[in-house]
Amino acid sequence: MSYIEIERLYKIYTGLVETVALEDFNESFEKGEIVAIAGPSGSGKSSLLSCIGGVLRPTSGIILVDSNNIAKLNDEELVNYRRDQVGLIYQDFNLINQFTIFENVSLPLLIAEKPSSFIKERVNELLISLEIARYEKTFPSYISGGEQQRVAIAVALANDPPLILADEPTGNLDLVSREKILDLLFNKSREYKKTLIIATHDPFILERVDRVIQLSKGKR
Ligand SMILES: Nc1ncnc2c1ncn2[C@@H]1O[C@H](COP(=O)(O)OP(=O)(O)OP(=O)(O)O)[C@@H](O)[C@H]1O
Ligand SMILES: [Mg+2]
Repeated sequence: MSYIEIERLYKIYTGLVETVALEDFNESFEKGEIVAIAGPSGSGKSSLLSCIGGVLRPTSGIILVDSNNIAKLNDEELVNYRRDQVGLIYQDFNLINQFTIFENVSLPLLIAEKPSSFIKERVNELLISLEIARYEKTFPSYISGGEQQRVAIAVALANDPPLILADEPTGNLDLVSREKILDLLFNKSREYKKTLIIATHDPFILERVDRVIQLSKGKR
């Protein structure tokens, strides 16, 4: 049995127009794999990541993560799943601008109700390992995009989730920052044996992952 098993997954957005974003999608992911989801704009990459991350509810189908069908979780169980199992990284960093770098990285640990001494130690360790310790008292808008993305990676790793989902993580970065961020993301994922799934068009990423899944109109 694989770490993640997806069977007959559909995501259909309803509204003025009905959009079938994922149509009978089937795939499995092994523990520790680094996989890219590629495909043109609108092919369903973000929808797939959101369904796996418990951010979006699928219309139908099965998503087994560690043998639990997350498509069937109630709201509270889904919150716990997202908090404990998943780290999310987005293109636009998604940091909270009113909070310092230290506070941003603390947030997932506060939500998980970790003791403050543990939080301090864990956040310091992450900031050092991602080479952003000098910014701990700084606010996100005062540091570069590449640095903000490093903070976002620290946030995603904070609770030590087994699964990291990254949606176009290098989309807003220049070439130099892009290489640095990818090195960090890949090294950390390998070092801590995370399963990393990245939605991307970036050829630089596609060359470096273990496997590429090509999506086309919501199908493989
Ligand atoms: N919240 C939404 N409501 C309605 N339709 C949506 C919504 N989100 C996405 N869609 C539609 O679902 C389809 C898949 O979108 P999705 O964002 O998953 O694609 P994507 O592969 O991530 O694209 P991109 O590369 O542009 O990020 C598209 O046709 C999109 O318009
Ligand atoms: Mg997308």
